[in-house]
Amino acid sequence: MTHLGNSAGSRDIAYHLHPYTNLKTHETSGPLVIASGKGVTVTDETGKEYIEGVAGLWCTSLGFDEPRLVDAAIRQMRTLPFYHAFAHKSHEPAIDLAEKLIGLAPVPMSKVFFACSGSEANDTAVKLVWYYNNALGRPQKKKIIARQKAYHGVTVAAASLTGLPNCHRDFDLPIQGILHTDCPHHYRFGLEGESEADFATRLADNLEALILREGPETVAAFFAEPVMGAGGVILPPATYFEKIQAVLRKYDVLLVADEVICGYGRTGNMWGSQTYGMKPDILTSAKALTSAYLPLSAVLVSDAIYRACVDESAKIGTFGHGYTYSGHPVSCAVALETLKIYEERDIIRHVRAVAPRLQQGLRAFRDHPLVGEVRGTGLIAGVELVADKATRKPFDPALGVGTKLVSFSHQHGAILRPIGDSIGFSPPLIIDETKIETLLFRFEKSLADTADWLVREGVRVS
Ligand SMILES: Cc1ncc(COP(=O)(O)O)c(C=O)c1O
Repeated sequence: MTHLGNSAGSRDIAYHLHPYTNLKTHETSGPLVIASGKGVTVTDETGKEYIEGVAGLWCTSLGFDEPRLVDAAIRQMRTLPFYHAFAHKSHEPAIDLAEKLIGLAPVPMSKVFFACSGSEANDTAVKLVWYYNNALGRPQKKKIIARQKAYHGVTVAAASLTGLPNCHRDFDLPIQGILHTDCPHHYRFGLEGESEADFATRLADNLEALILREGPETVAAFFAEPVMGAGGVILPPATYFEKIQAVLRKYDVLLVADEVICGYGRTGNMWGSQTYGMKPDILTSAKALTSAYLPLSAVLVSDAIYRACVDESAKIGTFGHGYTYSGHPVSCAVALETLKIYEERDIIRHVRAVAPRLQQGLRAFRDHPLVGEVRGTGLIAGVELVADKATRKPFDPALGVGTKLVSFSHQHGAILRPIGDSIGFSPPLIIDETKIETLLFRFEKSLADTADWLVREGVRVS
């Protein structure tokens, strides 16, 4: 790709500091400039079309040209383009959306706090956990446990919760009081001959041991994604959340469900918590809340937490937390329209109807020599590539096999997500079976190209 003169690509290199990008490589590779979107496809500046196999960043649930969301935004822009929610102010879009979300919650919840991103939602959840325990007169009960390979975002507290080394390294993170326990990936971390249920028991025992080591009076909360997304699409092993929640209850540790990816239908239920029997005290969500058309996140809190916050704010004089754009009216109006569309089109039923095509289609690659594991549920899936199927030996990370496969997939017109050598799939929820077939076909070609490339590189023999 050449980026000459005053092209968008060269101006991008000149002026744009990119998130999650190898900045050095970018100076020569430049960007893939996406110009427009329609349905489940996007088109780049040269006119080449791609199926968006990851819905952008697991988020554009209704695809890239839903006119009702555009109209909802315009209507709200014309009526009240901004108002805030500080100091007892409010507006109808935020009120309606909060009421709607409380009605949709997977367990009884009391109130909704709005922010702009998943990271802000999780930072808010951390602060609520601390505030709650101060309100209850337990100032030492503050530590928070997340999991290795978890992804909870990049703001200071959320990045600390995230269990991926690159989010900590040289950012001087994690902050104090954030702990990480086992990643529940059975394929990678299960012992020889260990069943999923036994693996789950071992992880729950390890969690209990960690809480006891730290002192239960110091441990406040456990954060978990129902399905871990950016860590590699990792599904909880059988009985995992049942056993983990028993430990949390025993030591009075709150559960925060990070539904930023799973929420709003991704796993074939409205919430990943329903898919996996989680009963959270706090639930964070974002992304598909607005089909990503505008930034918005929502933190749902239980009545016990809300009540404690009420008492604490009465004592202090205010609940000293909030963002200028908390409950932005245009984002809330778009979210309300998004939720209306989910209901009218019965998006959950649609996901359940088409998901088997994606899941079975990907499982058909299980016998491929490069494929170690295929995993997924609903419309989220991961395919893990390995150097040796029998021993599950990974490729040398320096080879960048996952990234290479995804660059082949771009050539074949599919955007996928490399997560190390796992390939993430999370298409818009509106995808139909025909487009799933096309996506699978393009993935198959990319996998074949990757196998050929590994032979050319001398990594594998044909
Ligand atoms: C599970 C999960 N939590 C939190 C976040 C952070 O959200 P944001 O990028 O909107 O800050 C993400 C983003 O991908 C996520 O997948």
